[in-house]
Amino acid sequence: MQMTMEKHHPKISPFMEYLEGLRARPSSEEVTQEMQGFDISATELGDYVQFHHDTYRRNLIFENEYVQLLCLCWKSGQQSPVHDHSSSICGVKVISGIASETTYEMNPDGFIKPLSTIDYSEGVIVSEDSDIHHVSNLQDINEDLVTLHCYSPPLKKMNLFSISSKYPQVYEPVNEWHIDSSGI
Ligand SMILES: [Fe+2]
Repeated sequence: MQMTMEKHHPKISPFMEYLEGLRARPSSEEVTQEMQGFDISATELGDYVQFHHDTYRRNLIFENEYVQLLCLCWKSGQQSPVHDHSSSICGVKVISGIASETTYEMNPDGFIKPLSTIDYSEGVIVSEDSDIHHVSNLQDINEDLVTLHCYSPPLKKMNLFSISSKYPQVYEPVNEWHIDSSGI
């Protein structure tokens, strides 16, 4: 299956052509390098920038058997659950706003503990592969966050974690093609 919108802003077209041309799973290094090759604003991403008032929203831009590209939109105060990416690699590019990433580690007793929170500003590209983490928009009210996430292979399942339970839950994330989103 391959799905994509017909039109992209010219600034992201070379990256889209790279994704469409893949015939194998790319490495994490390759994905982050390719994500460095373009700059695009939230305005230029057009209809892919869709927010939801209750939860952060995952807007699907492109997917084939090797990769998946999503535009994630976060209002102030919205955050992902604590999760991992199963066996997918992930490159993240901050398009606008500040993305706060908190990473966790697994303890011998089976519970997780937070390690650190790092704020990533516009233009920063981060590789999020085997991390247990969550991402938040901790900015002031009315300050939006927009991020691009490229997963390989497409992220169909993730483990959700809680600091109060040693039993992760398997979750199948909801990616919205356009309007009428739910988050997570
Ligand atoms: Fe993540």
